Amino acid sequence: MEKVVLVTGGAGYIGSHTIVELQSNGFDVVVADNFSNSNPKVLTAVQTITGKKFAVENVDLSDEKQCEQLFAKYHIDAVIHFAAKKYVGESVEKPLEYYRNNFFSTINVLAEMTKHNIPFFVFSSSCTVYGEAETLPVTEQTPVQPALSPYGNTKQVIEEILKDVCHTHKDIQVIALRYFNPIGAHPSAQIGELPIGVPQNLIPYVTQTAIGIRECLHVFGKTYHTPDGTCQRDYIHVVDLAKAHVKALEYMLSGKMTDNFDVFNIGTGNPISVLEIITTFEKVTHKKLPYKIVDKRQGDVEKVWADTTKANQILGWKAEYGLEDMLNTAWKWELSLKNKKWE
Ligand code: UFG
Repeated sequence: MEKVVLVTGGAGYIGSHTIVELQSNGFDVVVADNFSNSNPKVLTAVQTITGKKFAVENVDLSDEKQCEQLFAKYHIDAVIHFAAKKYVGESVEKPLEYYRNNFFSTINVLAEMTKHNIPFFVFSSSCTVYGEAETLPVTEQTPVQPALSPYGNTKQVIEEILKDVCHTHKDIQVIALRYFNPIGAHPSAQIGELPIGVPQNLIPYVTQTAIGIRECLHVFGKTYHTPDGTCQRDYIHVVDLAKAHVKALEYMLSGKMTDNFDVFNIGTGNPISVLEIITTFEKVTHKKLPYKIVDKRQGDVEKVWADTTKANQILGWKAEYGLEDMLNTAWKWELSLKNKKWE
């Protein structure tokens, strides 16, 4: 019997790419999404890629009743919990919305898991928990820093909640994956990142500028203590990131977890600056990217990149995509959007 994985937030950027990898690796999928920041057509595109169907439920998991009904309806073996609000700036403007949504949904899902004896949970955490780290690259032992935003705080506090739940419920196993900066799109260009409104993240802003939707990319600051003065990040292809979820599930299912709560960095280990993104994008697309240096963005970390040894050794996972392919797939996706009438 195939294991059934509940993918919350499955219509989102990372969720949709993860469904493809789950179905390609023999898992059955049930998707729960409230489509508050995603488009249901994404799920049709996922089914086109894999040629396999899955159940979809329009559910707000922060509503206890709706969450309860979902778990009563399906037999579920494992949960990958993506559903969350994810914008740093918006979280500062609407802290209560962030706390209500991200905490309530996680707590409701965990409560149903304990009720139905569902043992496996993978959580979308973030490198945001490291803040401005004193030593780089960051390992999982690098101390967590006080969160700079309600969004970041939800990731930190949920990791703590998960630890507490695992301490009490020894039959539940949890892996928190600390994502670095996911970019790129599925090589088929059928799914990718779909920002609503003006993009907050670098790569969709770059591709929208290159295609003419935005006039000019704003580079936030050039006086950082980095080789070219712009911020450095660890950009990871979304398909590599999606595969890490499958590896995490397989590791849990293998019964090899030594502790029932664990965290893993999921990145490439390569620091890349904003200017390197621009030059590499221009090289692979042969497009000139108009940009100007503007003031630093409040709350930006100067530099962060991952030591991924733990995920490499324990999960048997390693990022495969290089930066050129990451940007190439992002660009192919942007070009494909012109023909997709998804609005
Ligand atoms: N940047 C620009 N111009 C833009 C957008 C971004 O110069 O228009 C720069 C930022 O200053 C930063 C880099 O590009 O140096 C990456 O910025 P993103 O907004 O793409 O990503 P962040 O690193 O700020 O944020 C990401 C996720 C968050 C997560 C955080 C953890 O979007 O959810 O990583 O560090 F919390």
